[in-house]
Amino acid sequence: MGNYVIVGTQWGDEGKGKIVDLLSEHADYVVRFQGGNNAGHTMVVDGEKFVSHLVPSGILQKKKCFIGNGVVVDPEVLLEEIAYLGDKGVDVSPEYLRLSDRAQVIMSYHKRLDNAREIKKGDAKIGTTGRGIGPCYEDKASRVGIRFLDFLNADVLRAKVIEALNEKNFLLEKYFGEAPEDAEKIVAHCLKLAEELKPYITDSSVEINTGMKNGLNVVFEGAQGTHLDIDHGTYPFVTSSNTVSGNACCGAGVGPDKITGVLGIVKAYTTRVGAGPFPSELFDETGNYMQEKGAEFGATTGRRRRCGWLDMVVLRNAVRLNGLTGLVITKLDVLGGLKELKICTGYAYKGEVVSDFAADLNILDNCTQVCETLPGWDEDITGMRSFEELPANAKAYIKRIEELAETPADVISVGPGREETIVIKKHF
Ligand code: GDP
Ligand code: IMO
Ligand code: MG
Repeated sequence: MGNYVIVGTQWGDEGKGKIVDLLSEHADYVVRFQGGNNAGHTMVVDGEKFVSHLVPSGILQKKKCFIGNGVVVDPEVLLEEIAYLGDKGVDVSPEYLRLSDRAQVIMSYHKRLDNAREIKKGDAKIGTTGRGIGPCYEDKASRVGIRFLDFLNADVLRAKVIEALNEKNFLLEKYFGEAPEDAEKIVAHCLKLAEELKPYITDSSVEINTGMKNGLNVVFEGAQGTHLDIDHGTYPFVTSSNTVSGNACCGAGVGPDKITGVLGIVKAYTTRVGAGPFPSELFDETGNYMQEKGAEFGATTGRRRRCGWLDMVVLRNAVRLNGLTGLVITKLDVLGGLKELKICTGYAYKGEVVSDFAADLNILDNCTQVCETLPGWDEDITGMRSFEELPANAKAYIKRIEELAETPADVISVGPGREETIVIKKHF
């Protein structure tokens, strides 16, 4: 029993969706607290695949799901997702989905600016998802953002859009050489969307805290990963929110005293989409093997994910930054068939070994990985359901990760399906 935060430890796509879905079985509420539809979380239940970008991954377990105040929400995408899940027979009525009145709205001009900036940056682009995430968080910090509360009020919405466009249209036309946006068209469109979203909008912090007071259990679902965090990641090649566990409190409106534990999702190797440093990246056959066997294509943009060995500098950084109480190691099955496995334990830079994750991108870009080698296994492990059943070399690989991370592996995932899981420690 308790309230658990679930975060990605690497650069996203660690398998958070699958694990949140699995753990939600015994939870009551599931809460997204940051990011937006830059996320793509995959769940596979009875062979059927679901991808969600905004709706928390507890929805398939019929749990009450909250989109917290810290999330940036594209209303059109949210409505499309509600329709997509509804078509698949999932109940996404306001009984199961709640949207914070304080969450920020991603507007059309946020998406335009995101894409215009990336184009202008050329080769120096970040490789964003183009969903308007950065510009929306900028407006939030500049105190000119539109919250769902404003979205429901035609007069406030009109005034805010007109004010925003004074600046955005100047940028679009004069700086990027693009067509301006029309305030009245935006307002008319938004008011239609607002009518549809109205039943979902609530003071989510009040609802979540009332639930906790009554003994209900909550899962807080992180998006992206620790190394995409705006403070702690590979800045500027990061997303625009704090992805670490501490932000679960801010982004959901709960106190830190309510958090029982923090689980870090660790892919058994490493992947990254978009640009930015990746010290353990592989450019050889083994990297291709991981990419192909792991079907490493982005769930949001379909981009090919870059692949490399498991990086313990990254994982130890995630343990410290998130206060991880347990690890969930995913995609272990993908490593089967490799003769040897490597674990990156440090970075060699200018004749020295660096073992802390550096803030300086020069180090991260120009270091080489220092690795230790472990023997691989050939067996197909997807049908295994207990730690004991695993091949000796797979057990040794997990044990070595636990040792180096100084954190226990609570769950091991051996396939995309909900049931393809080895639970070592139960959390609820
Ligand atoms: P998220 O963003 O962290 O939720 O992860 P994504 O859904 O973007 O990417 C993870 C991918 O790996 C999805 O296609 C999952 O279905 C898949 N997956 C999750 N766990 C496992 C596993 O243990 N083995 C394999 N082979 N695939 C997995
Ligand atoms: P989930 O939740 C992987 C990456 C983008 C880009 C950078 C900034 O599925 O793990 P943004 O659009 O956020 O401004 O892009 O962050 N990125 C992700 N990479 N998984 C994600 O989410 C990501 N969300 C953003 O590729 O490099
Ligand atoms: Mg993803």
